Amino acid sequence: MPKDMNCKGEKFLTLSIESSCDETAAAVLANGRELLSNVISTQIETHKLYGGVVPEIASRQHLMNINSVIAKALDDAGVTISDIDLIAVTYGPGLIGALVIGVAAAKALALANDIPLVGVNHMHGHISSNYISYPELEPPFVSLVISGGHTNLINVKDYTGFEVIGSTRDDAVGEAYDKVARVIGLGYPGGPKIDNIAKNGNAEAVHFKRVYLDKDSLDFSFSGIKTAVLNYVNTERQANRELDISNIAAGFQEAIVDVLVDKSMQAVRQYGNGRLVLAGGVAANSRIREAITMRCEKEGIKLYLPEKKLCTDNAAMIGCAGYYKYLKCGADSLHLDATANLPF
Ligand code: KG4
Ligand code: ZN
Repeated sequence: MPKDMNCKGEKFLTLSIESSCDETAAAVLANGRELLSNVISTQIETHKLYGGVVPEIASRQHLMNINSVIAKALDDAGVTISDIDLIAVTYGPGLIGALVIGVAAAKALALANDIPLVGVNHMHGHISSNYISYPELEPPFVSLVISGGHTNLINVKDYTGFEVIGSTRDDAVGEAYDKVARVIGLGYPGGPKIDNIAKNGNAEAVHFKRVYLDKDSLDFSFSGIKTAVLNYVNTERQANRELDISNIAAGFQEAIVDVLVDKSMQAVRQYGNGRLVLAGGVAANSRIREAITMRCEKEGIKLYLPEKKLCTDNAAMIGCAGYYKYLKCGADSLHLDATANLPF
């Protein structure tokens, strides 16, 4: 049942809310994919002082900002809550104290205004950001999902069917970026900082081992490279040699990129129909985008890269995933609970 209209014969409007980590976000979408507003209140400046996200501070900031972020999303879209047909909210995975703020706000609005509620898996949201960037994109396809908490290869069978075909066995890619950034003194958030500084570096100057695990495995491991960077930095410091941060960043990044690109190609060969879809905060990385574009062109694979503003956490992607979940499964009950460790 394609739901292009609501019962009033107007476009079907979804209000979505995201608060799983350090962004308080709300968006309004028409017919699941057409972005009418997308408001993100980031807490980066606050957490920067502590070198990473402090969960208690994140919850408090969500609580302070959530109502005004939702009001702005409605206002920017030129609608009021009475025009909304569906409320979609991230209910996991993420920081529990952060998730509960978004879930409580969504439940209150749904109850008070008699609007159906749907809980969305944050990771399904990341993949769905591509449906907004590419109106013609439809499953099935293979997706490489790279974020602060996840590194997965997913066989996306349909809008609500996800098969995990590869996972990190230790650190997520974004986590490795953030930890390495700390080791070389770049601070938080590490990913964008390494991305920028690596542009001035020589990726061949410092070589870090690529970790492929078993030959046919689609799994990843990134904890070794983090330790390798730490050992390299300590050795250089002990020998009183000056560190070239740009070269270290470029060498680290290239080792990560090689593995991500090779395993994605393997996954598309094994599961795909010649299409690869990137998702997650790390998909904003310029070198990853460049390398994967070149390789896909070479291998005749059609590549979908979400717009950079839709790579990192936002509510638009949650609205899109929520819309398709609602079409397939209907509404969730108002007993919906935040679930920190929600599996894919
Ligand atoms: O998807 P996301 O916003 O939040 C999670 O769901 O985890 O991803 C955040 C991660 C952080 O680790 C951040 O450092 C990384 O994405 N990131 C980047 C870039 N922009 C964000 N990593 C590398 N290059 C970037 N340009
Ligand atoms: Zn995310």
